[in-house]
Amino acid sequence: MVQSMTHARTRISKAVIPAAGLGTRFLPATKATPKEMLPVVDKPAIQYVVEEAVSAGLSDVLMITGRNKRPLEDHFDRNYELEQALTHKGDESRLAKVQESSDLATMHYVRQGDPRGLGHAVLCAEPHVGDQPFAVLLGDDLIDPRDPLLSRMIEVQEEHGGSVIALMEVDPSQIHLYGSAAILPTTDQDVVRITDLVEKPAAAEAPSSYAVIGRYVLDPAIFGVLNKTKPGRGGEIQLTDALRELAQEGGPDGPVHGVVFHGRRYDTGDRGDYLRAIVRLACERDDLGPDFRSWLRQYVNEEMQA
Ligand code: UTP
Repeated sequence: MVQSMTHARTRISKAVIPAAGLGTRFLPATKATPKEMLPVVDKPAIQYVVEEAVSAGLSDVLMITGRNKRPLEDHFDRNYELEQALTHKGDESRLAKVQESSDLATMHYVRQGDPRGLGHAVLCAEPHVGDQPFAVLLGDDLIDPRDPLLSRMIEVQEEHGGSVIALMEVDPSQIHLYGSAAILPTTDQDVVRITDLVEKPAAAEAPSSYAVIGRYVLDPAIFGVLNKTKPGRGGEIQLTDALRELAQEGGPDGPVHGVVFHGRRYDTGDRGDYLRAIVRLACERDDLGPDFRSWLRQYVNEEMQA
């Protein structure tokens, strides 16, 4: 009874989606449009991320936006003019697509002002989140909906308390692009205890090839640490640095665990990965896949003969 009451009190219900970065790797497309609005097939990347939060049971979504926030807000709001025009035409299937994003979740927005790093973006969520654990989903990181990760992370957080980070094993030559975690095994095969974290280390200095990817379930103690975290790599306030402190401390704020992800993930802020995401997801779509795949086969054959 006591146990279930505790769980009812701490049940995670809020998702925070930082989407205020400058997206410089995608210029000039991101000069006036947030990178999170770039389409992946026919949906903006950010809609996949909000859908993922909702499928994990988190329907209260706070988006951290920056100076290009309008398209993000508009996408998750009603568009009466478009809805009326489609209703008038009797185009119900497109009408459903337009309404899908505005009916998804309860959306909230806060502006980051200066993009001073991911840690600073998360800190902007403090007044909304309060003193409950919460999830963070990076707005440019897509996890394939067939490989659920966030619900497993929530389960692990509910079991162990503290904070939980998503990890993925990468080729050691790629670890300099990520945060890298020092880990200890646990009795669960997909769960590790994190003892240290280093943001974007050189391969020789990386504690492991387990890379931090864009999903976190955080204990609210992170806010107190972030408030004191000095700018780190790239002059930005790094979430990894704050988590490192929690991981090393291992004190009253609970441990930091990692869930090792083996599924499909796409970093849509990276041009190559963005293209791969579109090709894969388009190939697998029932409506577009058959035609697109046969074109792709032909294209690859021609390329191999050239
Ligand atoms: P990135 O590390 O991809 O940085 O941010 P970026 O500035 O967006 O992109 P590049 O490297 O210049 O191309 C990871 C996530 O954190 C958010 C981004 O929007 C992205 O979802 N972010 C980053 C913020 O919300 N605020 C920041 O100050 C920095």
